[in-house]
Amino acid sequence: MPLDLSVKLGPLELASPLMTASGCSGYGKELDRYHDLSVYGALVGKSISRNPRLGNPYPRTAETAAGMINAIGLQNEGFDSFVKETLPKMRGFGPKAVVNIVGHDFDEYVWLTERFDAEPGIAALELNLSCPNVAGGMRFATDAAECEKLVRACREKTRLPVIAKLSPNVTDVCEIARAAEAAGADILCAINTLVGMAVDWRARKPLVANVTGGLSGPAVKPVALRIVHQVSRAVKIPVIGIGGISNADDVLDFMVSGASAVQLGTILFVEPDAGQTIYNGLKSRLLDAGVQRIADIVGTLETGR
Ligand SMILES: Cc1cc2nc3c(=O)[nH]c(=O)nc-3n(C[C@H](O)[C@H](O)[C@H](O)COP(=O)(O)O)c2cc1C
Repeated sequence: MPLDLSVKLGPLELASPLMTASGCSGYGKELDRYHDLSVYGALVGKSISRNPRLGNPYPRTAETAAGMINAIGLQNEGFDSFVKETLPKMRGFGPKAVVNIVGHDFDEYVWLTERFDAEPGIAALELNLSCPNVAGGMRFATDAAECEKLVRACREKTRLPVIAKLSPNVTDVCEIARAAEAAGADILCAINTLVGMAVDWRARKPLVANVTGGLSGPAVKPVALRIVHQVSRAVKIPVIGIGGISNADDVLDFMVSGASAVQLGTILFVEPDAGQTIYNGLKSRLLDAGVQRIADIVGTLETGR
């Protein structure tokens, strides 16, 4: 029997549990030159807003121990250009195309959801509820009632699977997860970046012009793993794990802890072909472990409680 790497996340079926994480590899063409993208079940694009956004002033990224801080500020080409220029190419790479959206306010999310619903060839809509690098960008991810209201309004405007992307920057992430589920989200994904800072004490300057930024990379993996573990037990809908995944063992750590699929983010800046390496690694790890269907390991962690 051949290995089966396919996974089913409610209405979203993927040939592989690997996805790209929003904002870390553009919309497909940035990775296409490195390897055959069919190792990915889906490509998730950088957040798209209604109007083009220039993002924050430079510098916008800084390296930290085992990670990076970014404060890009949601730079993107805006809905019209994305639909005309980028989405058709994104659909052509093979993996399913997942569109990640972000709004300044409630109405912008709903507007985007309605518009994307009318576009062909989109496998799911991911709601970036939680951008820590723009003013007011955290409201929908930190207040359960606001989150529920927004996810419900988007849910009503589309037939596409809705993925709610959660922030780790909250006291009780399960409360927000349950609010998104109650509002009709089909899938959750966790985590977005952790608010952090990096400074140059000699210059008395922060390393990113925005002062604070989002921490990502291997440094955040233990936090992401804890959140995926907690959230997957708190809701009935599937969870996508993200945060510091750098190799096949990281993927399997997330999957046994409750993730039905995973996203690769910061690792793609270091190793743009990580999708291929990790895909190969997954196959050999599963063969070694005598596992034929990767879906069988989801949530199999034994905690004794
Ligand atoms: C440079 C950069 C840009 C990002 N842009 C977005 C974005 O536009 N929308 C979004 O939902 N998440 C964005 N993220 C968050 C990632 O998708 C991911 O949730 C986070 O980086 C944790 O995963 P990682 O440690 O594997 O990178 C961005 C992350 C980085 C590093």
